[in-house]
Amino acid sequence: MLTVRAPASSANLGSGFDVFGAALARPADVVRLRRADRTEIKVTGAGSQYIPEDPEDNTVGAVAEALSAPAHIQIDKGVRPASGLGSSAASAAAAAVGLNELYGRGHTRAELVPIAAEGEAVVSGDAHADNVAPSILGGFTVAREDGVERIDASIPLVTCLPDIVVSTSDAREVVPDGATMDQLVDVVGSAAALTVGMARDDPELVGDGMEDGVVTPARADLITGYDAVREAAFDAGATGVTISGAGPAVIAACRERDRRGVAAAMVEAFEAADVDARALQTRIGEGATIH
Ligand code: HSE
Repeated sequence: MLTVRAPASSANLGSGFDVFGAALARPADVVRLRRADRTEIKVTGAGSQYIPEDPEDNTVGAVAEALSAPAHIQIDKGVRPASGLGSSAASAAAAAVGLNELYGRGHTRAELVPIAAEGEAVVSGDAHADNVAPSILGGFTVAREDGVERIDASIPLVTCLPDIVVSTSDAREVVPDGATMDQLVDVVGSAAALTVGMARDDPELVGDGMEDGVVTPARADLITGYDAVREAAFDAGATGVTISGAGPAVIAACRERDRRGVAAAMVEAFEAADVDARALQTRIGEGATIH
């Protein structure tokens, strides 16, 4: 019997659409695994009623299949599905790390990233690694076709999850087909600044680097109150604000001393737009851990 805790994550971080990701110190999924002749899955916790337990339809079942590692798997969801906080990726990451250990498969953490991404594709339709990479490796990650890079960072963050539904397919539908050369120059500049900011663990530079004039503005209309929440977070001291993953969660980077105020300001701004919301004060944290 093995227990694995795998963290929520935030993909894109504004300028790194489908590439950047960050592990969040909390919330997390906790997954218990035991070797078995065939895979059985039980799901409890946040939003578990929406998650299929049939291994054919569950992200974790696909990971067990890919590793030829059947198991009894009990998932306790700390990360609500469809939040923009890498819920299915957290479960897939935990399963990949746990089953690799349980069956002595000997894969490195980096090798487990594409395996978990395939698992995640069962529910999301697309094998993006920008959420599974941070859930497995921790820190800030850069997931490309050719592999994944990571940087240790501990930037303070606030995630604010409004009580609205945004489907990932709708959020991908509105992504523009192209960008102008000016927009490209701006996004490359932001992405580079963000990466340097992570290496320096500098919330100002990371916040600046979250600016994105291409994908984020196109998605903002799907999140009632987004512009007001963004403005309120900046007024309270946030250094950068953007949509977390495909939304609806909004994520802000800030200095430690401003984090509580930023969280309160974001919730208040959502409420002013008639949307209930919950903020979580967190930071960039470690990847999946085996207990
Ligand atoms: N990079 C993805 C997106 C994350 O923004 O659509 C959600 O799968």
